[in-house]
Amino acid sequence: MESTAREELLRLDKLSVDYPVRGGWLSAVSELSLTLFKGEIYALVGESGCGKSTVAYAVTRLLPGSERVDGGIYFEGDDLTKLSASKMEKVRGRRIGMIFQNPLDSLNPVYTAGRQISEAIALDGVSRLDARDRAVRLLRDVRMPDAEKRSRSFPHELSGGMRQRVMIAMMLSREPDLLIADEPTTALDVSIEAQILSILLDQKESRGASVLLITHNFGVVAETADRIGVMYAGELVEEGGAEDVFDRPAHPYTRLLMRALPRSSKKAGRLETIEGAVPRFTDRPRGCRFRNRCPGAMDVCAVLAPEYKTVNDGHRYRCHLERTGEA
Ligand SMILES: Nc1ncnc2c1ncn2[C@@H]1O[C@H](COP(=O)(O)OP(=O)(O)OP(=O)(O)O)[C@@H](O)[C@H]1O
Ligand code: SF4
Ligand SMILES: [Mg+2]
Repeated sequence: MESTAREELLRLDKLSVDYPVRGGWLSAVSELSLTLFKGEIYALVGESGCGKSTVAYAVTRLLPGSERVDGGIYFEGDDLTKLSASKMEKVRGRRIGMIFQNPLDSLNPVYTAGRQISEAIALDGVSRLDARDRAVRLLRDVRMPDAEKRSRSFPHELSGGMRQRVMIAMMLSREPDLLIADEPTTALDVSIEAQILSILLDQKESRGASVLLITHNFGVVAETADRIGVMYAGELVEEGGAEDVFDRPAHPYTRLLMRALPRSSKKAGRLETIEGAVPRFTDRPRGCRFRNRCPGAMDVCAVLAPEYKTVNDGHRYRCHLERTGEA
């Protein structure tokens, strides 16, 4: 991707989110800075519990409410952390659309698929009849089999893949500039997964939408992302162009993830393949958060948090070690 013509859409500036837990605050996201440009797909990857969904909920301001949030979330110039609830309501849906891992949670069980979508469209002042027609068209766009008939089905009458399509159609109906997809395909089989990803790609290509794609599945990333951010225990430990991160991972964590995935199975690879689990930190720890799992950990790693090092333009990683050789 050319670096000169890129226009910023979303910028997280040292975003931190802590949840209240017994014994203090759980540091779920810590001083995370990243920029999403217009018309790109940015994949945020990391194991379960590393804070990916917390980032998504922070951007859409859907966090539970008891948390502590620091830092800025700039979306086309506005700091979303400072917007009033009513202004945020207008941003959500119309300018930032979100699809969740479990569509059942966000579909209304007593509305048909068509009605859910047309209600979303009607929010923008379209007449009910037009909204109904558009709902069916949108269901066709998201490749719902037998769209006309399915528009009259209730969520419990639809398969997981179909529900996901309804949710995506609802989101697309308002043509948001930023789509946040949190594990959109985790519960789906591979062929449906491919279709859902191609819908996201199509949004980028046909109307320049940006996508923040959250996943722990590297296969999903390989096929779709322009850039990758790797998260570990609430921090962004590596970021770069998709090919750079895939072919020349620099952070020990990314390299372990890559090594755990034989080339041939990269496409099917999931991240739970390395030993141990992401630790939970109450209060912000000193030193590097990866040190108890890192094969290269040194004394300094226990006391000093590493700074970012640059591999090349746009490719950076956060570690005390100089990068040596290939993964
Ligand atoms: N409401 C909450 N209260 C307390 N802790 C929470 C809350 N929500 C999330 N957490 C904790 O914050 C950390 C980050 O969670 P988050 O859901 O953001 O991770 P994730 O990367 O999305 O994981 P997954 O891949 O399993 O969805 C985890 O340790 C999680 O247990
Ligand atoms: S800073 Fe130290 S512990 Fe952390 S990833 Fe680098 S070498 Fe490993
Ligand atoms: Mg999650």
